[in-house]
Amino acid sequence: MKKLYIKTYGCQMNVYDSERMAEALARAGYEETSSPEQADMILLNTCHIREKAAEKIYSELGRYKGLKAARPDLRIGVAGCVAQAEGEEIMDRQPLVDLVVGPQAYHRLPDLMARVEAGEKALDTDFPAEDKFDHLPARAPRAQRPTAFLTVQEGCDKFCAFCVVPYTRGAEVSRPPERILAEARALVASGVREITLLGQNVNAYHGEGQGGDWSLARLIRALAEIEGLDRIRYTTSHPNDMSDDLIAAHGECEKLMPYLHLPVQSGSDRILKRMNRGHTAESYIRLIERIRAARPDLLLSGDSITGFPEETEEDFEATLDLVRAVNYGQAYSFKYSPRPGTPAAERDQLPEEVKSERLARLQALLSKQQRAAQEAMVGREVSVLFEREGREPGQMAGKSEYLHAVHVVAPDLAKGDLARVRITESLPNSLSGELV
Ligand code: SAH
Ligand code: SF4
Ligand code: F3S
Repeated sequence: MKKLYIKTYGCQMNVYDSERMAEALARAGYEETSSPEQADMILLNTCHIREKAAEKIYSELGRYKGLKAARPDLRIGVAGCVAQAEGEEIMDRQPLVDLVVGPQAYHRLPDLMARVEAGEKALDTDFPAEDKFDHLPARAPRAQRPTAFLTVQEGCDKFCAFCVVPYTRGAEVSRPPERILAEARALVASGVREITLLGQNVNAYHGEGQGGDWSLARLIRALAEIEGLDRIRYTTSHPNDMSDDLIAAHGECEKLMPYLHLPVQSGSDRILKRMNRGHTAESYIRLIERIRAARPDLLLSGDSITGFPEETEEDFEATLDLVRAVNYGQAYSFKYSPRPGTPAAERDQLPEEVKSERLARLQALLSKQQRAAQEAMVGREVSVLFEREGREPGQMAGKSEYLHAVHVVAPDLAKGDLARVRITESLPNSLSGELV
């Protein structure tokens, strides 16, 4: 067997794609290794969402120069969103790259690899007519893993003015529900108890299956019927695609975890409009109220951007106001980063210091909310799915239904156990507790 080293950057979809690529390449005689030094093929699965994310790739590639010089047979490939966005430019900028493959062409990897092995350079950034999922080998899930990702929808038609995703992942495509259910059953048969459904716009899911059109809510309800599957999550959602049915599912479907990542991006209507978000601050807040009415204990997460072109101090304060009104349990925030080819990159840009200063203020508020949400868990009983051994002897670590990391000292616990835990302490990035 030849050895394959895959390094994954970016979002959960890349994590999922890397597994599918490893499975496809296993058929072409490649076995995974965790060390680049031993690899015959190094594959970087990349992210283009912010400038820093893309630049990381070139510095990582630079580090492989010595390896390639010592072993000319070593092949180096770039997959993912940088591959899609930059294509051939990658090979021009870094000649040691042999293969560039975009996210919609992964099913062609075995053919591309054969060319690369023969000493050719290979580039495929097409958006093929055929669905890659129909042509990738059936899943060969790794045994003994309690959680898994499952892509149900890919691509985005929203075109937020700051975002590269519609260009790197292409138009929105939903997989047929039967395929998803079959993949979920295979995962559960291998020991998986929690599945996170993935999509760039996952709640816009609309699969064509038996009995017509399937919404995400319908898919979740069907997945909940699978025996042995205990937990369902989904990410990432757009506020405008939170249907009544999906909101209702949060109140009715026990296996659907009380956690929702619902990015807002800004609290200023003027900026939301320039971002092409299609919602207002007010409509977002009303939506949150409806979701919380269906599931009062839901832990809400979000994303916001500071320093989008033309953002004034007043606009930024509207974001702080929205964050105060919503009270996130967890959230991500980013400095606006102009992405080539997106409309906002062409506009007048704010100085870096302004973006950074606003980001620091926003993050201070968000981390206060996050700490408060964690501290509110102390004394409560949660359910924890244990995923790995902790740092201390006899300690196991897992996630609560609210996606908090929880540690418990309990030598009898095993990976994959689901247990009731009383939270006793809130630490900087996790909770600790004891078995009930
Ligand atoms: N499909 C997801 C993920 C988009 S990327 C979604 O729609 O939410 C994840 C987050 O990165 C976005 O929510 C946004 O907050 C941030 N982001 C996207 N483009 C960005 C840019 N150009 N600069 C800074 N942050 C950006
Ligand atoms: Fe990007 Fe999400 Fe907007 Fe789509 S909805 S363009 S993925 S931020
Ligand atoms: Fe990054 Fe592409 Fe995901 S740009 S966030 S890897 S969809």
